[in-house]
Amino acid sequence: MPGFEVFGEEEKKEISDVLETGVLFRYGFEKERKGIWKVAELERRFASMCGASYSLAVSSGSATLRVALAALGVSPGDEVITQGFTFIATWEAIIESGATPVFAEVDDTLCMEPADLERKITERTKAIIPVHMIGAQANIKEIMTIANRHGIPVIEDTAQAAGGTLDGDYLGTFGAIGIFSFDPVKTMTTGEGGMIITSEKDLYLNCSAFHDHGHEHLPDVERGLDNRRFPGFNFRMMELQGAIGLAQLAKLPFIIQEQKKNKEKIKKMLQRIEGITFRSILDPDGDTATFLAFFLPDAQKARRFNQVLSKNNVGAIYYKDNTWHFYPNWHELFKGTTLCKTGWPFKNNIRGADFLYRKDALPKTEALFERLLVFPISVKMPEERLAHMITAIEAAAQEVF
Ligand SMILES: Cc1ncc(COP(=O)(O)O)c(C=O)c1O
Repeated sequence: MPGFEVFGEEEKKEISDVLETGVLFRYGFEKERKGIWKVAELERRFASMCGASYSLAVSSGSATLRVALAALGVSPGDEVITQGFTFIATWEAIIESGATPVFAEVDDTLCMEPADLERKITERTKAIIPVHMIGAQANIKEIMTIANRHGIPVIEDTAQAAGGTLDGDYLGTFGAIGIFSFDPVKTMTTGEGGMIITSEKDLYLNCSAFHDHGHEHLPDVERGLDNRRFPGFNFRMMELQGAIGLAQLAKLPFIIQEQKKNKEKIKKMLQRIEGITFRSILDPDGDTATFLAFFLPDAQKARRFNQVLSKNNVGAIYYKDNTWHFYPNWHELFKGTTLCKTGWPFKNNIRGADFLYRKDALPKTEALFERLLVFPISVKMPEERLAHMITAIEAAAQEVF
């Protein structure tokens, strides 16, 4: 998963280009910066890789979601549908927009189940955020068909799948807006950072202004003398992040290629065990191979299998127990705990009614995740480590089956 594994001379060179100019800000300082525009160049190259018309780098993946929702005009009282397996940033951004998150089930792609999405659409639904979780594709074509039928814009949360594709098209290009995270554990990283892509000029202009206090970024108007269509906030990326991003983007194909090789080797070990099945990957060629997800026949077997792996120091992620990615463990949603003295967003909501969530609202997701184990895949997995994994997997299989 992490691009930091391949940090090298390329990142150092890019950073030193910036330090030599002394300009860390992505806008202005034309004279001092001596033609060095790292963030702008990263935007250009990222859009070009994806085949998107516009791109905007921002300070984090979480910020991309907030900016994208603002660009679409999502407002207090609106509903935004996302899924019950994602990092909490996806629904935090919806709450930050004043809107109400609504959660759909996931299916064995480990991403949004299209049928449940359609069931959850109401007249309040103003955006849909499917998430391409743990490196591979959501059923985005079917999701787009449903969204288009209802005239609702889609933001593809591609935070965990930069460089992934579906039938040759880059993830993030199917919806109105695609967003990416470059945080410290992502396939390409800038430490903190994210990218927004779109092919709609109006949305791009909204994003660009909103992420920078409303600045219009007009080529012939000096910054500070420009106009403001609306207030925004500061979600800007800085030049040092842009610099690292350029080096990392160039390495992305290599990172994915190596992860694919490692993932295949581990998958082969697991395939020998009768009773283990795998996450459905819609297009294996377009998988970024950051994770290998597999199912045991039942919850008890999954836990026992993982106990043996953990004893051998190669424990898998058991998302059922994870408090950051799995709906039934997002306790603040069920208890309505918040720092706001008014109880917002759970109480005094603009909808005119309090809203709290039920822990048992996604039974399909819960049943799936009881049986799910996930190995993170690294770029560098030496043969000794792989051999050690084989031994541990064999021991776990013997114990469980
Ligand atoms: C699915 C998903 N969306 C959004 C984010 C937020 O990205 P960031 O950590 O860059 O704020 C993450 C981060 O892990 C994520 O996994």
